[in-house]
Order: sequence, then C-alpha cells, then structure tokens
Amino acid sequence: MAQLEGKVAVVVGAASGIGAAIAALFSSEGAQVALADRSAAGVEATRARCIGPAKVSSHVVDVTDAAAVEAALAAAAEEHGGIDILVNSAGILEEVPVLEMTPEAWDRTIGVDLTGVFHTARYVAPHMIERGGGRIINVASQLGIKGGTGLAHYVAAKAGVIGLDKALALELAPHNILVNSIAPGPIETPLIDGLSEDWKRDKRAELPIGRFGTAEEVAPTALLLAASPSGDLYTGQTLGPNSGDVMP
Ligand SMILES: NC(=O)c1ccc[n+]([C@@H]2O[C@H](COP(=O)([O-])OP(=O)(O)OC[C@H]3O[C@@H](n4cnc5c(N)ncnc54)[C@H](O)[C@@H]3O)[C@@H](O)[C@H]2O)c1
Repeated sequence: MAQLEGKVAVVVGAASGIGAAIAALFSSEGAQVALADRSAAGVEATRARCIGPAKVSSHVVDVTDAAAVEAALAAAAEEHGGIDILVNSAGILEEVPVLEMTPEAWDRTIGVDLTGVFHTARYVAPHMIERGGGRIINVASQLGIKGGTGLAHYVAAKAGVIGLDKALALELAPHNILVNSIAPGPIETPLIDGLSEDWKRDKRAELPIGRFGTAEEVAPTALLLAASPSGDLYTGQTLGPNSGDVMP
C-alpha cells in the first residue's frame, strides 16, 4: 500500500536535486504534493516527475520573503484542503574563505538556509495544528555537525537548522507535530557545482564509503520520517545519509 495515501505534502526547494527527488517519491507513495521553489521552470520540470495518482500543484516563492511564504502556504492549504507534511529543501551554497567573506555573502546564505527554514516552519505550523498534527522535515547538512572549510556561513546556517528543529520539536510536540532534520553528506546535485575540485577531492577522500550520494538515495530518509508508523517515534532528531562522513 502507498505509504502517504491521503496526505498532503508541501516540498519547498522542489525544483531541483534533493527536493525534486523527495517530491517525486512522495507523489509515487500517493501523497498530494505542493511544489514550491523560486524557480518556476524547475517546479514545472519536477511536476513532470510527479506521476502518482494524487493532485500536484505549483507555487513560486522565495523563502527569504516571509509574507510570500505565508501566502504560498495558505494557497497550498486552500488548494489541497490542508497540509500534513512540510519538507524544506531550499538552499544555496557559495564557497568563500572566511577571511574574504563579506557581510552581504553571510546574510545571503543565512537568509535562505536558516531564516528561510524558520519562515516555512513558522507559517506551516498553524495549518498543521488545524489538521490535528503534522511532520516538518528540514534538510540541514552534515557540515552543520562536522564543520568544513570555505563555508562558514553555510556551516553556521546548517548548525542553526539542527538547533532550530530541536526547539520546534519541543514547542510543537503538544500539537502533535514532529520536527526532524536530515543532514546529508555530499550529494551530486547542481548545488555543489560551484565547489572547487580541490574541495570535492579532499571531501571524497574523507568518506568511508568513498563516494558522494545521489538525491534518490536521500529521498527515502524523508519518506521514513513522513510516513507512519516508520516516523512516529522521531522528533528533534538528525538523520544522516552521509556516506559515513559523520558518526555522531
Ligand atoms: N548537495 C549536497 O551535497 C547537499 C549536502 C547536504 C545538504 N544539502 C542541502 O540539501 C538541500 C537541497 O540542496 P540540493 O543539493 O538539492 O541543491 P539544488 O541546488 O539542486 O536545490 C536547491 C533548490 O533550492 C531552491 N532555492 C534556492 N534559494 C531559494 C529561495 N530563496 N527560495 C526558494 N527556493 C530556493 C533552488 O531554486 C533549488 O531548486 C539544501 O538545503 C542543501 O543545503 C545538500
């Protein structure tokens, strides 16, 4: 039986990479899926991959814009009759040594990778409360646990997401909302195209598995957290499909 039949999932950052793979998997597991991203063309490409039996909708939104996030979530709830699951996979990554990092570069990354996560969780929670509960799944990174060079803003944002999710897990548990982070290792998506070859070579050498993952290898972790009974006992946790890069 389809694991998400009858559920409505909003996937933010659905236009590419990990978010797109999660949206396609959730659709194939019977969920209605609302696809949200700042890239309209990317959302439409993902829509073509969502071949499940339930409804799919598209929402163009920039997660740094709180009012736009609130409006997009309200539109998704209206269109699908409610929201049960939020996945936030939107993210940016710019490699720059900390001694060359400008405040603008810092703010850009924190704005998308941390504040954007706050916006989506903040404005989805009332819809889940209306529904009697829900699941919030945020895509952090193993770098938020382990650290990494050339990415101080990104590392800080991802550590922030892991902390934010623990706080949300505590505050939202009385509303039957479970909140968890996924902290992948390096995954072959457009996000890492901008990393230098040196960075990637050094990282690959650190991995016990010896290779980067694929988005399709991360998506089942989101399904585990979203579905019942597989996800029922997880809240405030950080799951690590990370090629062994971090062993907490
Ligand atoms: N690829 C990796 O190695 C890796 C590893 C660990 C964690 N992550 C995290 O996984 C998540 C997904 O990354 P990915 O690898 O699939 O990258 P990706 O670039 O393929 O996808 C990121 C998506 O986020 C969207 N996005 C960016 N800024 C946005 C904004 N302001 N508003 C709305 N949407 C926005 C992009 O349009 C894109 O569709 C990110 O949070 C990333 O930090 C990726």
